[in-house]
Amino acid sequence: MVRHKTKNICEFGDFQTPMTLALEATNVLNRLSIAPRSVLEPTCGRGAFLLASCKVFSQATRYVGVDISTKHLSYLKEKIEVESSSFPIKIINGNFFNLNWSEILNTLAEPLLIIGNPPWVTSSELSILKSSNLPQKSNFQGRSGYDALTGKSNFDISEWMLIKYLEWLEERNGIIAVLCKTAIARKILIHAWQHKHRIIRAQIYKIDTLKNFNASVDACFFVLQIGDGNLSQECEIFEHLSAERTSQIIGYKDNILFSNIINYKRWFHLRGTDSVYIWRSGLKHDCSNVMELEREGDKFCNGYGYVSSLEQDWIYPLLKSSDIGNSRTSACRKYVIVTQRYIGEDTTRLKFDAPKIWMYLQNYQEYLSKRSSSIYRNRPEFSIFGVGEYTFAPWKVAISGFYKNLNFVQVGQIDGKPVVFDDTVYFLSCRSESEASFITALLNSQPAQEFLESMIFWSDKRPITIELLKRLNLRALAQVLGREGEYNSYVLRNC
Ligand SMILES: C[S@@+](CC[C@H](N)C(=O)[O-])C[C@H]1O[C@@H](n2cnc3c(N)ncnc32)[C@H](O)[C@@H]1O
Repeated sequence: MVRHKTKNICEFGDFQTPMTLALEATNVLNRLSIAPRSVLEPTCGRGAFLLASCKVFSQATRYVGVDISTKHLSYLKEKIEVESSSFPIKIINGNFFNLNWSEILNTLAEPLLIIGNPPWVTSSELSILKSSNLPQKSNFQGRSGYDALTGKSNFDISEWMLIKYLEWLEERNGIIAVLCKTAIARKILIHAWQHKHRIIRAQIYKIDTLKNFNASVDACFFVLQIGDGNLSQECEIFEHLSAERTSQIIGYKDNILFSNIINYKRWFHLRGTDSVYIWRSGLKHDCSNVMELEREGDKFCNGYGYVSSLEQDWIYPLLKSSDIGNSRTSACRKYVIVTQRYIGEDTTRLKFDAPKIWMYLQNYQEYLSKRSSSIYRNRPEFSIFGVGEYTFAPWKVAISGFYKNLNFVQVGQIDGKPVVFDDTVYFLSCRSESEASFITALLNSQPAQEFLESMIFWSDKRPITIELLKRLNLRALAQVLGREGEYNSYVLRNC
């Protein structure tokens, strides 16, 4: 969000929808011949969608609006009195997370339209605000273990609410029509298809958030029609609310969401895991001011400006996402201390093998021990992650997870030492330059690019993930390109 937000706005994800947008979105439903018998706006705020629904769906017999904010609801009640007093509207002041929803839902006739704009806030933003505006279950969607520890268990409150809407409609006929982040809409689609919710039709209409909310977010009006009938595993994408033709169709197959189902089907045979070439993430240390250094003559300067003489054997050239994304691979701006050769290795040996580094790390022990991620708990002092034999391979083929292009680059040694990446870079390790060129050529070939791109959503914060890369079988790709012999010869040399 670009605009300045008060604590209250943040905590309750409180971005009220302008009436013009609510009307435009509600009219989309009208165009789709949606005619609900009841309308529910679960976090209605000032009720833009409830009031728009009265105008557009005048045949409905009941309209219910719920919100936690008494201030918003007083405003809404005044509005209703002036504009919509003849409509059967019920306003409820309550907290989404502890309301008796089945009691409310039982009063609502089908088809039921659940409309609105659920709060725009994530669980981690709420924890920073020390807010309790959260569902009671903290282990949302069973995300636990490493994901929970590394913060992947962070979720949007709207995602949680939308899953509840799906549950409410499990045995009812209805429509979910909400403004939400496009990434959330996609997560909900995956959830709905995985859990076999009865989706008859799914649509995403892009909206201009800068114009409507003075915020720069990739968001949409997300429409799910749920009920009995022919079920669909595709979602139509429209460039704006008044677009009549789809610009793209995304789909779900083999537990994967596709951005281009045609290309996925075309290159389906490239799918599978490669047991020889294994994708890895770069080094994770969570303490860049201490662990990342710039060279000053034969010494190193850390992020606090402190210059030290350190054992070079434990310091490696570091390339970051921006270096890989911009193909800057022949020289490095930074170096990194690599304290272990494999995860969990005892670090006390540094005391004897690299006493200057050991002293240096002791001096910054306070910073290193304060690293918040619990992956470091009960681990040797100064532990790092994303380290193994592969870290020290002389050649690598790498890609940045953050950059919006599928450009694989080959990376050789710098100053005679293997290059280490940060943890937003993914890579395959290779033994020789020719092997790295071969793998790079395979990955940058048209079939590989079309296959991978068919599963990429470029508007995602990190469009390229290790899970995506792992779906491509390099052997099958080499076969398609008529280079299986070369592939086999490199595999034999690696065994
Ligand atoms: C993004 S605003 C949207 C309001 C309205 N639906 C609209 O379209 O203008 C989110 C609303 O969620 C409400 N809200 C936040 N947390 C809530 C909770 N736990 N229970 C009920 N309402 C909540 C806020 O007060 C706010 O009005």
